[in-house]
Amino acid sequence: MSDRDAIREHLKYYRDLGVFGATTDPVWRVRTADLSEGSRQPEPTGKAPSGEDAAGDLSTLRVHIGDCTRCKLHTLGRTQVVFGSGNPNADLMFVGEAPGADEDEQGMPFIGRAGQLLTKIIEAIDLRREDVYIANVIKCRPPGNRNPEPDEVASCEPFLAQQIAIVRPRVIVALGTFAAHLLLRTDVPISRIRGVVHEYQGASLIPTFHPAYLLRSPDRKRDVWDDMKKVRALLNDRP
Ligand code: URA
Repeated sequence: MSDRDAIREHLKYYRDLGVFGATTDPVWRVRTADLSEGSRQPEPTGKAPSGEDAAGDLSTLRVHIGDCTRCKLHTLGRTQVVFGSGNPNADLMFVGEAPGADEDEQGMPFIGRAGQLLTKIIEAIDLRREDVYIANVIKCRPPGNRNPEPDEVASCEPFLAQQIAIVRPRVIVALGTFAAHLLLRTDVPISRIRGVVHEYQGASLIPTFHPAYLLRSPDRKRDVWDDMKKVRALLNDRP
C-alpha cells in the first residue's frame, strides 16, 4: 500500500468513528512509550513490573475454569469457553457481554464484526489490541445470542471479578448495557451512564455503547469517541 493510500485509509477509520478534526493540544498527546510493554516504569500502586505474575495467575484461573460445566450453557450448543485475551498487565481493560458465533468458534473475545470495530476504537486512542485486556462477563455463547440468564451470570461473574483482580487495570470500559449494569449494580439506562467515570474496585470504570450497537446505530460513534477521549485522559493522568 502506498503512503498516500495508507493515510487515506487511516483518515477513513477516524471518520468512521465520527472524528472530523485534529488537535495539537499537548493534553491529548498519549505517552505511548509509557503504555507499551517493556518500557513501563514500576507502578506506584505496587502493580507487578513484569507480566509474569499476572500472566501466570490468569493461566491458573483458565485451568481452574477448565471445560466448564457449572451452568447450563455447556449443554446449549457452545463450542468452547472464551476466556479473555490481551496484556495481563494492561492499564486498560474492556468488558463485553458474552461471546458470539465467531468468538465461540475461535475461542477469542471480540473477533467478529463488533470486535473489528472495537479494535478500531482501541487504535483510535493510539493503543493496540495487544496493549489492552479484553474479556466478557459470560465466557460461553448463549444460544442464538440471547441475553445471559441470572443463573449463568451467577456462575460466571466470579471469573470476571478474578480477571479484573489479576490484571488490575487502571481503567475499565464496560461495553454496553449488560456489562455496565452488572459491574455497577444499576439499571440506569446506558445512555445516561455512558461517559461518566465511576469507581470499580480501585479502577476508573467508564461505560460506553457496545460496538455491536454502533454497527446498528453508527450515529452514536461520536459518543463513543467522546468517551474514549476520557479514557485516554485517565490513562495519561498518572499520579
Ligand atoms: N460481543 C460481546 O459482548 N463479546 C464478544 O466477545 C463478542 C461480541
